[in-house]
Amino acid sequence: MQISVVGAGYVGLTTAACLAEIGHQVLCADNDLGKLEKLNSGRLPFYEPHLDSLVQANVASGRLRFVSPAEAIEKGRAIFICVGTPPLENGEADLSAIESVARTIAATARGYRLVIEKSTVPVQTANRLWKHLSIYNASGLEFDVVSNPEFLREGSAVGDFFHPDRIVIGAESPRAVSMMKEIYGPVLTSPATCPVHSHCPPVHEIPLIVTDTNSAELVKHASNSFLAMKISFINLVADACEAAGADIAKVAEGIGSDQRIGQSFLNPGIGFGGFCFPKDLQAFVRIGERLGCDFSLLKEVEKINLRRAEQFVAKVKKELWVLRGKTLAVWGLAFKPDTDDVRFAPALNIATRLMAEGAHIRAYDPQAMQRAKDELPEVTYCLSPYEAAQNADAILILTEWAEFRHPDWANLAKAVAHRLVIDGRNLYSAHELAPHGFQYVCVGKPHVPQLPVATSAKELVVSQVPVASPLSAPTVSASMQPQP
Ligand code: UGA
Repeated sequence: MQISVVGAGYVGLTTAACLAEIGHQVLCADNDLGKLEKLNSGRLPFYEPHLDSLVQANVASGRLRFVSPAEAIEKGRAIFICVGTPPLENGEADLSAIESVARTIAATARGYRLVIEKSTVPVQTANRLWKHLSIYNASGLEFDVVSNPEFLREGSAVGDFFHPDRIVIGAESPRAVSMMKEIYGPVLTSPATCPVHSHCPPVHEIPLIVTDTNSAELVKHASNSFLAMKISFINLVADACEAAGADIAKVAEGIGSDQRIGQSFLNPGIGFGGFCFPKDLQAFVRIGERLGCDFSLLKEVEKINLRRAEQFVAKVKKELWVLRGKTLAVWGLAFKPDTDDVRFAPALNIATRLMAEGAHIRAYDPQAMQRAKDELPEVTYCLSPYEAAQNADAILILTEWAEFRHPDWANLAKAVAHRLVIDGRNLYSAHELAPHGFQYVCVGKPHVPQLPVATSAKELVVSQVPVASPLSAPTVSASMQPQP
């Protein structure tokens, strides 16, 4: 099918490249001419695993082209609207970019168009789109409006497109439903191979949920809000674990083994970030207010999340007392691994708070440093996690990148000024770090202080201290006792 995608951001570009990969002719458009130029020269405006090769292959095959919005709207039989819906001051979604695309479609398109709303929008936006397209219809345009929410996660968006948990189609006409089935046909029948896996996971039937547009729009906001609620919930339980001396990993395993709850999204930490959960949660609260529904539950979810950064900084202060003049190594800046996205990233919030207390930050992230530099130019950006750790008073783990999972602790022990790891993502265990003399503080687990170990190689030989078992707290000197 001849398909157009308007908006070449994280969602639009991934959707366009994946639709081309499953055999459609795709025109991808953006208002940002600089971005189009970059894409046409084979460069991506952001990092997303597997997307660059997918774009290059489909441009080379002629199935994917980058064009102006006017050309995309003129030529696409199905038009996916994937433009941004950023938050307004009051938390509501700004729909002006969607309105503008609708007006251009109404004013310039001829014949039939399937207008597909993919951007995350408040319930009843499809109704508004329909009215708007009718009002501004200049030349007998025939159209249907469909809501087709996206569930792509940054960092695994390509895989999510090819192996969705479900496809939701909100449509009011059989013609629209049948066109949507044609578009997603190759995904619904499960591809033998996809660009991510050499052998795809076992085929299961992908639920196709066909409903009215209002219900489809609600599925999106309700899904993201539910996942955000799950994270805030496990973060509360993690607080209880710390206070009571329990282990959140075991508690989460115990909770999540109930199939009604499930294991995923029960990782505690420094809170959720990114451009989806924080803004979608706020927007859903505003939608509730507009509809006269009490969504105070979601306001609490947001409050709990906002406290996470504050609590993490309090942990750093509890260990280091005064932060003025201290050097802190920050590992990870992106809001999650496998992306360069730092929008609403908890790491940036935490770094800002630590710098306000007078700490000096030496940071490393495998992909997000360029974007972080625009937000926090005063940070010292380093070429490796080891460089960041030089003379640090503590290493802070703020994004769980795979490359941080097995560092060379012996080398790090020599590089740092003080052997302390404060882990906001629970990547390690006290047991693993103890032989190298590191104190380990994480989320939702009792802090077992380790015996102090000398900091120079020479001293290390003389002071062969016994290594603490993770199950029995060693005797510690008064100066090493955690502060109340
Ligand atoms: C989220 C949804 O998962 C997608 O389904 C949706 O399509 C997308 O938003 C969107 O609306 O566009 P994304 O924001 O890319 O995707 O990332 P997630 O993997 O959902 O993580 C969001 C945040 O929650 C991250 O900061 C992550 O660190 C945090 N998180 C996640 C936790 O703190 N704990 C967990 O157990 C899981």
